[in-house]
Amino acid sequence: MKILLTRKIHDFAIKELKKKYDVEVHTGKIPMPKNLLISKIKDKDGLICYPYDSIDADVINAGTKLRVISTYSVGYDHIDVKTASSRGIVVGYTPEVLTRATADMTMALILALFRRIPEGDKLVRNDKWSTIFGPYEFLGTDLYQKTLGIFGMGRIGKAVVKRASGFEMNIIYHNRTRLTKNEEKRLGIKYVSFENLFRDSDVVSIHSPHTPQTHEIINLKLLNKMKRTAFLINTARGKIINEKDLATALKRRIIAGAGLDVFQKEPINSKHPFAKMDNIILMPHSGSATIETRRKMAEIAIKNLELLLADKKPIYQVIV
Ligand code: DGY
Repeated sequence: MKILLTRKIHDFAIKELKKKYDVEVHTGKIPMPKNLLISKIKDKDGLICYPYDSIDADVINAGTKLRVISTYSVGYDHIDVKTASSRGIVVGYTPEVLTRATADMTMALILALFRRIPEGDKLVRNDKWSTIFGPYEFLGTDLYQKTLGIFGMGRIGKAVVKRASGFEMNIIYHNRTRLTKNEEKRLGIKYVSFENLFRDSDVVSIHSPHTPQTHEIINLKLLNKMKRTAFLINTARGKIINEKDLATALKRRIIAGAGLDVFQKEPINSKHPFAKMDNIILMPHSGSATIETRRKMAEIAIKNLELLLADKKPIYQVIV
């Protein structure tokens, strides 16, 4: 059987795959150009892909022999799962293992914004330390008793609750379905409407999937409801935010700042409007990027592929 990887994966995984399959790894431009992907998928039985690949109907239908798509991610909004399913192609993914790492990244962005970490680092390197000795200079904000608003209370949202509780933050949330009263009590969180989440939070963190319902749900109208001192964090999916509107809100200081790990079209570069702003922290989609987590993701991604190609139940399968 032939398989295609749209990018290099861990060496142990490639070695493992090569024992069983004829393996082709794309090493050129990332994401893999669509024409190339379409031509390469034609004779493949399996595909291992990444969140920035667009596995749309054109790609799926070009894969006339394709049986399995295994994504190295928990998110699968980059795959047209409906088309895949209509063709009998099964999609595997890697949830759970990256929950903690992504929640850690969320806290890292919150702390970096509240305590001005990137600014402080720059200041020291640029010989400006002696300019900030005054009592009002270079002050950040306490996390203690500030309100964290979480949009999307799934696995990652709950892991953020655990961490933010340790910092003694007040936590409110909004989710498509409200949790049970018992679970809210156990987590120490309060359910609020979507609009109130933005109105009342000192920092809003996004943890919902990208779906047609959440597409660009965060727009200027909503950002205008936020406190001028508030921050916005996104470690979920870039397409949940209207980036033009966020840039406007940051430029006009409608909100104080943002910490983003994900973008509408990845990768972004220095020409992106966000790259010119000083009230935003940018990360290169690294929520799951720890040694331990990425290895586990690779293990699951190849295992899902192997099991599915052997007509067995995978570890994790996307259900449509
Ligand atoms: C995922 O797995 O969907 C993450 O965004 C990748 O880091």
